Amino acid sequence: RKGKTPEEVVKRYLQKVRNSPEEDCTICMETLLGPSGYKGPGVASVSRAESVGRLAQCGHLYHLQCLVAMYNNGNKDGSLQCPTCKTIYGVKTGNQPPGKMEYHVIPHSLPGYPDCKTIRIIYNIPPGIQGPEHPNPRKPFTARGFPRHCYLPDNEKGRKVLRLLLVAWDRRLIFSVGTSSTTGESDTVIWNEVHHKTEFGSNLTGHGFPDSGYLANVLEELKAQGITEDEEQQL
Ligand code: APR
Ligand code: ZN
Repeated sequence: RKGKTPEEVVKRYLQKVRNSPEEDCTICMETLLGPSGYKGPGVASVSRAESVGRLAQCGHLYHLQCLVAMYNNGNKDGSLQCPTCKTIYGVKTGNQPPGKMEYHVIPHSLPGYPDCKTIRIIYNIPPGIQGPEHPNPRKPFTARGFPRHCYLPDNEKGRKVLRLLLVAWDRRLIFSVGTSSTTGESDTVIWNEVHHKTEFGSNLTGHGFPDSGYLANVLEELKAQGITEDEEQQL
């Protein structure tokens, strides 16, 4: 199985730069007129002509070797995210461990949404062993508080969020493995950067209803992961 090398992946998203500007590369903080300040294993030298690249969509400039080093530090899924403006190139995926996502409609209304029923999502992830994409490969990880129940209003916007959360689940972006900021426990399953409402009839934790801004916020958080309605239509 011969995949693309990290350098080939990065180059796919770059345009050539003829004259480097007198700016610093914001990855290594060295000038774009000189070589990458990144020195590490697997950093081959590149010709001067291609030492700086412009990300094709957002236009931000970096040393090619700095982008390759950044890509190698991630989960190497073929996607790249501009560290300046967060534009995503390719399809971003995460390192959520295996598990199950289910949902159904329950015949009750959430505070703030008296006119509709409620979608309940149930996430279940068992403990396991960390893979190469996790912070401590081959070490076990714990999984606390599962099944985790989450709620959305069963209206048009809530159903849109649900559809996008299903995409996020498939791309392994809902949970991650790391250190819980709530409990301080390391090597455990934690929420990733997409907020969920885990409280139904009250808001004691701040993760409940009413919260009139929630649906708009979570749509923004999904967008930051590269998951939008436009893309949903392409699928
Ligand atoms: N419900 C929903 N989101 C939460 C909760 C909660 N009870 N607690 C924290 N978060 C959000 C945080 O705001 C943060 O953005 O999850 C993100 C990661 O926080 P961590 O504490 O690192 O995540 P985790 O350990 O997974 O969550 C702690 O959430 O669902 C509950 O059972 C879970 O009690 C546990 C708590
Ligand atoms: Zn650089």
